[in-house]
Amino acid sequence: MHEIEIKSLCKSFVDKDTKVDALRDINLTVDKGDIFGIIGMSGAGKSTLIRCLNYLEKPTSGQVIVEGKELGQLNEKELREKRQDIAMIFQHFNLLQQKNVIDNIIFPLSLQGVKKKEARAKAFELLSKVGLEDKANSYPSQLSGGQQQRVAIARALAADPKILLCDEATSALDPQTTASILSLLKEINQEYGITIVLITHQMSVVKAICNKVAVLEEGQLVESGRLEEVNLPEDKFFWLNKENELKNKEFSKNNFGKEVRNYVG
Ligand SMILES: Nc1ncnc2c1ncn2[C@@H]1O[C@H](COP(=O)(O)OP(=O)(O)OP(=O)(O)O)[C@@H](O)[C@H]1O
Ligand SMILES: [Mg+2]
Repeated sequence: MHEIEIKSLCKSFVDKDTKVDALRDINLTVDKGDIFGIIGMSGAGKSTLIRCLNYLEKPTSGQVIVEGKELGQLNEKELREKRQDIAMIFQHFNLLQQKNVIDNIIFPLSLQGVKKKEARAKAFELLSKVGLEDKANSYPSQLSGGQQQRVAIARALAADPKILLCDEATSALDPQTTASILSLLKEINQEYGITIVLITHQMSVVKAICNKVAVLEEGQLVESGRLEEVNLPEDKFFWLNKENELKNKEFSKNNFGKEVRNYVG
């Protein structure tokens, strides 16, 4: 059985007089223990696809099957339970700004009804896993981007997920911090056997940790397979590089309000 199976997945966004076919007939399988990279240009449909994997986005048609269960067949309660197996991290970390680090990690555990003492112990264990024991009482605004992503990873692991979805998890980080987050993800994949699906603009990210890769172009998968087997034509690199050039010219503000270079590629 595949860990994740996507069959004939389509997603359209329909407005008054416009229709965007964000995903067109996607077929894909992810196996347990994979680090599966999905790469594509801005607007290709990457976020839409990854959000369909936990039904944050409901497909227009097609199936998403996670560990043998078709998500479209589940009722609200069953879907909520299933989502506990599928954690997610984001480009901008999405931590609760008014809670300190340890309480950010405790939060999903308390939602699950885990007892306070037990939740606290687990949160400290996870914090030590991501190398931030000394930041338990800091607030997100007092942390660097890389540290915030480590907290987000610890929080994502709190519910013992089987799958971790990463939506551009390193796109707001400099190359060195990106490398350290990627090696943490690899460690988590190996140590806990968590399957990772990661979407990115960055070919370097795919090459660093993925064993499989799919290329998404205008809502369609144009390549998919094991990293060493997938033939990525030169022109695709050209487009990806071209986009990276554009992105490299962009500047973004980090949480300290300082201007930092938004490294991509
Ligand atoms: N809620 C929505 N309503 C309407 N259109 C949407 C919605 N979400 C996404 N789209 C459209 O679907 C297409 C795919 O968007 P998506 O966010 O999945 O791209 P992406 O590959 O993640 O891009 P990026 O790299 O910029 O994050 C785009 O044309 C986008 O405008
Ligand atoms: Mg996106």
